[in-house]
Amino acid sequence: MSRKIRVAVTGAGGEARWYMEAYKTCPDSELVLVQDIDPAKAREQGERLKVNWTTTFEDLLGPDIDLVDVSTPNHLHAEQTIAAHEAGKHVICQKPMAPTIRECDDMIAAARRNNRKLGLYMSSLGAPLFHEIKEMIREGFFGIISSVSSRGAHRGGYEAKDRTAWRGSAEKTGGGVFIQLAVHSLNLFQWLLDDDIVQVAALSTNRLCKHSIGGDDLTHAVAEFRGGVYGSFEAGYAAEGGLLALYGTKGSLVMTAGQTFLWSELPWDGDIIKYTPRGGKEMTVLDPADYGPRQARFAAKYDQHAAFVRAILEDAPVPVPGEIGRRDVAIVKAVYRSAQERRHVLIEEMG
Ligand SMILES: NC(=O)c1ccc[n+]([C@@H]2O[C@H](COP(=O)([O-])OP(=O)(O)OC[C@H]3O[C@@H](n4cnc5c(N)ncnc54)[C@H](O)[C@@H]3O)[C@@H](O)[C@H]2O)c1
Repeated sequence: MSRKIRVAVTGAGGEARWYMEAYKTCPDSELVLVQDIDPAKAREQGERLKVNWTTTFEDLLGPDIDLVDVSTPNHLHAEQTIAAHEAGKHVICQKPMAPTIRECDDMIAAARRNNRKLGLYMSSLGAPLFHEIKEMIREGFFGIISSVSSRGAHRGGYEAKDRTAWRGSAEKTGGGVFIQLAVHSLNLFQWLLDDDIVQVAALSTNRLCKHSIGGDDLTHAVAEFRGGVYGSFEAGYAAEGGLLALYGTKGSLVMTAGQTFLWSELPWDGDIIKYTPRGGKEMTVLDPADYGPRQARFAAKYDQHAAFVRAILEDAPVPVPGEIGRRDVAIVKAVYRSAQERRHVLIEEMG
């Protein structure tokens, strides 16, 4: 296939710095324009990547662009996505999809109206290790999954000085720490388990970051998946330490502090993970120095941007469609409603 998808990125000075290169290394795409409202950031990224740069969003809507990558703050996602779709562009958008369910619906409607592809960039799904863990779940390595657990956290809110940044605004983000951080694990576990969350119950507060965060700085939610798995989802802005864990009748996996702990009754000899049961029930620490290089060999295969570009060229489903982004925002909103109204909330209540 000789045609390359021509990509422009808006919000090039933020998180996009870490992945824009992918559009240059992917054989099916070329990065043609980077845009940021801050001229210094736009210029810096344009010069670094040796592509044209601009501060004007409308420059992304010209006929020489096929795909717009929206990596701006949450409150701009809907407006920019809809403008790009109306101009005939495909859109890949950062998480969370938008601050409100209504905006997600408007984005999906614009994509459909213009027959363009709309998807989310969920960075976790670019990790080959998670693709292997999904295969392990499917193959029964963990037995029947009983529960999953996650903690997404850092001290960003505690250390921030004031509320002027967009992350400090409940309106601009669509919440606080839970919409920013837990949306990753909500998406990841539903994908890993191939199952949807159907109800949630939550506590949510802002105890330690009132100076910098308008929404929540700590939220704990429990969730029930349709298939009966229970999940616990925590997000915090005042203390370090992340966690992802899943527990099954034959095996368990815990990822924390940069390490992966594994126990199972069964052996596994995958592309990335090698595991031999040792008889007892203690967990084995998998050494990232051991599996890291194996994982790196599959990085290109699972790159989310390259996969999105391929989906455009082949008119195939994108890795994380807008409907999934909308589903995850609805779950986040159900969590906030549950905390506010002090009751369990069914996801179907959210419309
Ligand atoms: N996938 C991940 O792991 C991950 C990590 C961080 C952030 N994010 C998401 O990425 C998005 C951006 O977050 P960030 O951390 O890069 O924020 P940021 O504030 O660090 O950067 C945002 C960039 O957008 C620019 N910008 C602001 N308004 C603009 C406009 N109108 N037009 C063009 N550019 C504009 C800013 O100048 C800045 O360079 C958010 O939706 C966030 O949730 C995802």
